[in-house]
Amino acid sequence: MAFDVNHVAIIMDGNGRWATGRSHPRVWGHIRGARKVSEIITETDKLGIKALTIYAFSTENWSRPTSEIKTLIKLLKKFLHLERPRIIKNRIRFKVIGNIGHLPVEIQTLVREIEESSKDFEGLKFNIAFDYGSRDEITKAVNRYIAQHPGKEITSEALGANLHTQLCGDVDLLIRTGGDQRISNFLLWQ
Ligand code: FPP
Repeated sequence: MAFDVNHVAIIMDGNGRWATGRSHPRVWGHIRGARKVSEIITETDKLGIKALTIYAFSTENWSRPTSEIKTLIKLLKKFLHLERPRIIKNRIRFKVIGNIGHLPVEIQTLVREIEESSKDFEGLKFNIAFDYGSRDEITKAVNRYIAQHPGKEITSEALGANLHTQLCGDVDLLIRTGGDQRISNFLLWQ
């Protein structure tokens, strides 16, 4: 590999604008965007990148129209069914970071099954951030630490070790597909 990039993170936005600009409904952009994720996993793996984290749904995204939320959840389900064999075959370590508790039980089960069967894999670490917010992640990490070490001051190492991405290291490259230059509560610590 010609460059030293270990952890790539992608904010998958601009889909709505892209679709509207082509006279399609916004969700069409999400559908096309979701398809691209499979290609991105293949290319990331080929480049020898160690970790990939994609932002599929933020804690703020619940304020979107119900029909759009439903489409995004359906896309996640379709993606998981489609990618599961490839995750296993290519020994990709899969994880959802954020919250899955508001998803239909069937999808929660699917997520847990894929996480469980891939937890010892040594290949690409692939994280989907769903119902994810970085401030929420950091707050939970600190509270977890306080509960386990009452009265002890937290260090930055201990905080990092309590985050969902503890095995992936800091982000080396952040791509925001819509072209804006904002972090939007995504992997703030990392
Ligand atoms: C925000 O930007 C993007 C989202 C809320 C959804 C991104 C999700 C996907 C592309 C599909 C999910 C993929 C998987 C693998 C589950 P926007 O497109 O609404 O931005 P815009 O309004 O700026 O165009």
